[in-house]
Amino acid sequence: LKFVCYSNDGVDEHMVWLIGLKNIFGRQLPNMPKEYIVRLVMDRSHKSVMVIRRNQVVGGITYRPYVSQKFGEIAFCAITADEQVKGYGTRLMNHLKQHARDVDGLTHFLTYADNNAVGYFIKQGFTKEIHLEKDRWQGYIKDYDGGILMECKIDPKLLYTD
Ligand code: ACO
Repeated sequence: LKFVCYSNDGVDEHMVWLIGLKNIFGRQLPNMPKEYIVRLVMDRSHKSVMVIRRNQVVGGITYRPYVSQKFGEIAFCAITADEQVKGYGTRLMNHLKQHARDVDGLTHFLTYADNNAVGYFIKQGFTKEIHLEKDRWQGYIKDYDGGILMECKIDPKLLYTD
């Protein structure tokens, strides 16, 4: 089992994984238009943290780091159907936080959570109260009325993964 983070860099193996992740999002996020999912997963300004098991993608999180603003927007998050509620979603989020802090220099995440995923995000440290100053994110992430805006502060020192 391994956790990796890639964007569309043209490396064959990474592309196979990104396509696998795009297919998981397509199934697990039925309200999202498929073209929109492909566009963001393949967009070079987005990155995807993925769980890989036996060279297959089990799930992942696609996000856009806004490095100058020091926050990231989580666009999609899903684990394949038969592997949910086994702890992968939590481990994935921990890897994302560690990577975003140590590689991108981010301090916060924002996401529009689906109603049925709010419980998952709360367990990952997200809140419905937005503490981040509005001028740091307004105009960067677009309004989307299919979800609830949630925020997570990344601890500056915590070791999220071993
Ligand atoms: N609602 C409430 N609690 C949940 C949910 C949920 N939908 N999913 C998981 N949890 C809980 C688990 O019970 C667990 O609690 P525990 O620590 O007390 O046992 C905890 O959250 C973590 O569970 P994991 O096993 O780590 O979560 P999992 O691997 O299943 O991943 C995920 C969670 C990503 C939400 C997965 O269930 C999934 O893919 N769901 C369908 C797609 C989805 O809803 N994605 C999020 C949409 S919003 C967005 O993409 C921005």
